[in-house]
Amino acid sequence: MIINLDEVDSTNEYLKRMVNDGYDSDEMLTVTAQFQTAGKGRRGRQWFSDPGTALMFSVLVKPKLAIDDCSMITLIMAMAVRQSLKDMNIETLIKWPNDIVLGDKKICGILTEALLESERIIVGVGINTNQESIPDELKESATSILIETDDCIDHDSLLESIIYNFEKLLEKLFKNGDMSDLKSEYEQGLVSLDKEVTVLDPAGEYNGICKGIDNRGQLIVSHEGQETYVYAGEVSVRGIYGYV
Ligand code: BTN
Repeated sequence: MIINLDEVDSTNEYLKRMVNDGYDSDEMLTVTAQFQTAGKGRRGRQWFSDPGTALMFSVLVKPKLAIDDCSMITLIMAMAVRQSLKDMNIETLIKWPNDIVLGDKKICGILTEALLESERIIVGVGINTNQESIPDELKESATSILIETDDCIDHDSLLESIIYNFEKLLEKLFKNGDMSDLKSEYEQGLVSLDKEVTVLDPAGEYNGICKGIDNRGQLIVSHEGQETYVYAGEVSVRGIYGYV
């Protein structure tokens, strides 16, 4: 089911309220909005877009996984977005764990939140589709599909396609309980595969070569002759020359 709103504070918050108010269906539920007055990004940042210029939606999922394994669901959403854009002849790559980049700039971010008590996951997605310009302070690392390709995106068809791909990929994830059947497809889209990356670990930054992901979606980084496994929640990873 899809709920279409003109305006909301945040589509993630809208779903949270529905669950708190007793919504407990196991069916996947999607809410989309033309405008968010208090859109949220990762790490407490804001996510803002002028009305109608970005595709913004959140999906409520009842995961058939232990809650600790749910970070894989965000990787799956990144794959679904990439696949749907590819089907529209827009070639993007994934910046692990779940940003989508076009060229060397971000066009999509994903914010996943776990509702522990109700054992639900909310996956919120913001895609810069039809913005004609990007605010100066974000220009260096962000762009929109319109700016890069001149294509004006139909939000309804893109959303329908993403939900379709997401459900298919999610089934594979739930079947094995890990990414063993999905790992190589994810890696094909990984922008940093076999490239040097900086791991911004709070315990100490280091550089290494990105070797892909393991079956749990952790990034494998080869560093001083050893493989380290980077967990999505703990640290971020940058290319050595900047954002990608
Ligand atoms: C990021 O920081 O990269 C994640 C951005 C996620 C933005 C989307 S827009 C739809 C959903 N509702 C929100 O408040 N945030 C997510």
